[in-house]
Amino acid sequence: MDAPRSEKKLLRVLAGTREDPPPVWLMRQAGRYLPEYRALRERAPNFLDFCFTPHLAAEATLQPIRRFRFDAAILFSDILVVPAALGQPVTFEAGEGPRLDANALAQLRDDLDHGRLAPVYETIGLVKQALAPEVALLGFCGAPWTVATYMVAGRGTPDQAPARKLAYEDPKTFEQLIDRLVEASVGYLVRQLQAGVDAVQIFDTWAGTLPPAQFQRWCVDPVARVVKGVRAAIPDAPIIGFPRGAGTLLPAYVAQTGVTAVSLDWMIDPAFACAQVPARMALQGNLDPLVLRAGGRALDAATDGVVAAFADRPFIFNLGHGILPDTPVANVERMLGRIRTG
Ligand code: CP3
Repeated sequence: MDAPRSEKKLLRVLAGTREDPPPVWLMRQAGRYLPEYRALRERAPNFLDFCFTPHLAAEATLQPIRRFRFDAAILFSDILVVPAALGQPVTFEAGEGPRLDANALAQLRDDLDHGRLAPVYETIGLVKQALAPEVALLGFCGAPWTVATYMVAGRGTPDQAPARKLAYEDPKTFEQLIDRLVEASVGYLVRQLQAGVDAVQIFDTWAGTLPPAQFQRWCVDPVARVVKGVRAAIPDAPIIGFPRGAGTLLPAYVAQTGVTAVSLDWMIDPAFACAQVPARMALQGNLDPLVLRAGGRALDAATDGVVAAFADRPFIFNLGHGILPDTPVANVERMLGRIRTG
């Protein structure tokens, strides 16, 4: 028998249904482009404390839903809470991004400190109580490769060279780190789903810096293991993969990871993705965040272009990566008006 039709549009699309107009949410939809976020953020100067304070994180999660009536809320947290809960000190310096203590890599915990992550699970409960029944709640984690790039370099890097170099020079050590992250990601996503998120997204922001053989080993294989591990506990868990920059390796990612749907960056040709990804599988994406920031007629044309490119398949409108902090709120409203009136 078919599962009952969900009242959440986003979940219907993930299950393979086409919806018009398509559901929409934006990566990094809670953030600095919103004045109400900037005000809230001042209440906890330390970013990780902010993520780990349930009433503040719940409020940040809900702000973009109130303002824009998106079809999905995404849990307010960060991919780097996982290294923190594995015992690697993580801090965020204003304007400089994350800093991790790379010396701590040799003394990581074997498994995640779920006590440290308890506020995240509590946030999910608070958000669930406040969300309208038609709005889906998404959980997330970083993919093992992307999280490892920060853990090894100790910070964000333009080309992820420190992690790529370690993977070539000392694949055993690097593999142990990836294995630990696979386990941690499974445990973390399962707990999020048990706490009430409707679906999860795996962010592999730096997948595109890997050549094909390394893409297979450090992106496809670990994500496949995460998906398998989550489904062993929760067989019908909807999982969205985001292998940013996968390019021509997208079909292999889709075929081998077992994700429910795939999120596309803005560099990929929608025609290629539509032709290569099975027709019943939902695609998500892929407006250039820079055209959203630019606004005006360029935004109208690009929004129409994305809607048209995915018109005959299950589709979730999103950006090709996170919204830029200096994006005018009016541009988001303009884009939504175009998507929703068709
Ligand atoms: O999407 C959402 O609205 C939910 C929250 C969310 C954040 N980070 C909040 C955040 C999500 C899903 C993330 C994911 C994340 N975090 C990724 C993968 C997706 C992507 O954008 O590539 C990555 C690579 C990170 C790591 C990270 N967190 C970096 C590199 C930075 C610093 C750069 C920056 O944008 O400031 C962060 C900080 C961060 N995470 C902020 C927010 C809102 C800004 C910090 C602040 O408010 O002071």
